[in-house]
Amino acid sequence: MRSPIYIAIANLKGGTGKTTMAAWLAYALAYMGKRVVMIDLDPQAHLTNVWLKSEPSKTIEPNIWNYLYGGECKGLLRKVDKNLDLKLIPSDIIEYSKYWAESRTPDTFDSSQGLRNIRKEIALRRKGGYDYIIIDCPPDPGYAKIGVYAADYIIIPTDVTDISLRGTYLFTTSLLLAAMGRAKQAHMLGIIINRVFKRFIPKSARRWLDMIEAKLKEYSLNNIELGKRIYDPILFNTIVPQSKDIGKIVLKRERIIPKVFSKGGRVANIFKQLAEEVEWRITHFKPLI
Ligand SMILES: Nc1ncnc2c1ncn2[C@@H]1O[C@H](COP(=O)(O)OP(=O)(O)O)[C@@H](O)[C@H]1O
Ligand SMILES: [Mg+2]
Repeated sequence: MRSPIYIAIANLKGGTGKTTMAAWLAYALAYMGKRVVMIDLDPQAHLTNVWLKSEPSKTIEPNIWNYLYGGECKGLLRKVDKNLDLKLIPSDIIEYSKYWAESRTPDTFDSSQGLRNIRKEIALRRKGGYDYIIIDCPPDPGYAKIGVYAADYIIIPTDVTDISLRGTYLFTTSLLLAAMGRAKQAHMLGIIINRVFKRFIPKSARRWLDMIEAKLKEYSLNNIELGKRIYDPILFNTIVPQSKDIGKIVLKRERIIPKVFSKGGRVANIFKQLAEEVEWRITHFKPLI
């Protein structure tokens, strides 16, 4: 049985498209015939809301918090599409708030163990295994750490505003490197540029992206082991446009992603291309140094 590839979608800056990328990428991989599990690591449960209908006052059980804090969880993996091999480990804010009120937040449990236990659990739940596990991390250092510790590869989405790129610069060149220094299997797979108009990346954004690349190169020269785990070039070739269809999946009653894929067209093609690029980058991993 092959073990699945764990991909964390992370950035410290909120609103850059982590959940959006997690949902579309997971669906695109499943659409291409892969066996995929999504893990919602955000207490706000946006990714869960993309796939499961729920009343705001009702707890979705079992959820990731039952598991991380409690242990035994039957039915943790929910099938979310009748045609594809696509499952979800849901999050739930009501459940999370109990642990939060007791100050049992991510930094208080052993991050190196947290999702690693889930790896074992997922492996046990299916004969033949899964191909990809996509982890949607919230913009929080504690969770970003759990995501990085659990992941084989990290994808960082950003939009092209100054404030997001500043956050992306800080995240990729400090926290992420520090966590990767501990989590030896973690690789930086690249930055996805999200929400651009007509493939146009503004000059100010280019400056930030060049700065990120230069800083990572400089860092790698002093830490060759880590440099070998950063993909070159750092930017994904696939650029995700600003699009109503892409944006409206979150918190919508109706599931937009399967509809868009069944119709085909531009948005479906972009995410198929992104999924192919993810697979290409993993199988032909080319290090920064
Ligand atoms: N490519 C896009 N086109 C249009 N809207 C987008 C796009 N990507 C993200 N959004 C919107 O931006 C907001 C933040 O995205 P989200 O994925 O929730 O970010 P994060 O998970 O990083 O906080 C959401 O309202 C989402 O619908
Ligand atoms: Mg999110």
